[in-house]
Amino acid sequence: LAMVVLMTGGMAQAAETVVGVDANFMPFEFKVDGKLTGFDVELFEAIAKEIGLDFKWQTMDFNGIIPGLQSKSIDAAIAGITIKSEREEVVDFSHPYYDSGLIILVAADNNDIKVLEDLKGKRVATKLATTSEDYLKKNVDTKELKLLPNTDNLFMELMSGGVDAVFFDSPPLLYFAQNQGKGKVKTVGPLYQGQPYGIAFPEGSPLREKVNVALLKFMEDGTYDKLYEKWFGTSPK
Ligand code: ARG
Repeated sequence: LAMVVLMTGGMAQAAETVVGVDANFMPFEFKVDGKLTGFDVELFEAIAKEIGLDFKWQTMDFNGIIPGLQSKSIDAAIAGITIKSEREEVVDFSHPYYDSGLIILVAADNNDIKVLEDLKGKRVATKLATTSEDYLKKNVDTKELKLLPNTDNLFMELMSGGVDAVFFDSPPLLYFAQNQGKGKVKTVGPLYQGQPYGIAFPEGSPLREKVNVALLKFMEDGTYDKLYEKWFGTSPK
């Protein structure tokens, strides 16, 4: 009997908040020795502390995040998610917290791809279900478009010669070019299409307003700037 009472008590508790993240997007979210870290991870952890939110991370492929929010299997997500109108129709976003853009990555010795137009007739890789997939489909007549669920696979495809270029969000591409890919790959051309990142919630989530208040406070009190400098090495403009 004691056990039945305990179990009932447990089930009556409110379910813990689950926050989706794709741990493969440096320097925003990635794993070091099995532990999640990065700008997004530390930003959300600081926000949660500020608003007294208990939560657990749920790592998932990026293409599962918007559907996960729609079905409410996750309560929020932070994953360098670009705020865009098609998504705003199905989920709610926080204030934008980072300005990004899309860029081209090629092998260090590649001299014929310099701008987007040069991707015409080429084999290009990007991440599945991202703004880059949409952008490429709308703007470039590639020979082959490889849609991969994982950022590491984009780099492997390029380095093994499986594609001529990768087109994706600039932060992970620049990070790779300066670190593991140093001397082997380079970014070329301008930044394409502004990518304001926001934290996403199921439509109508009461959590959004609380997160926004904390986010704006952090932008004013220096917390945001400190995190930004830690992860990007410069102060936000
Ligand atoms: N910003 C792009 C988008 O929203 C790509 C984000 C990928 N993020 C990630 N954690 N893999 O479509």
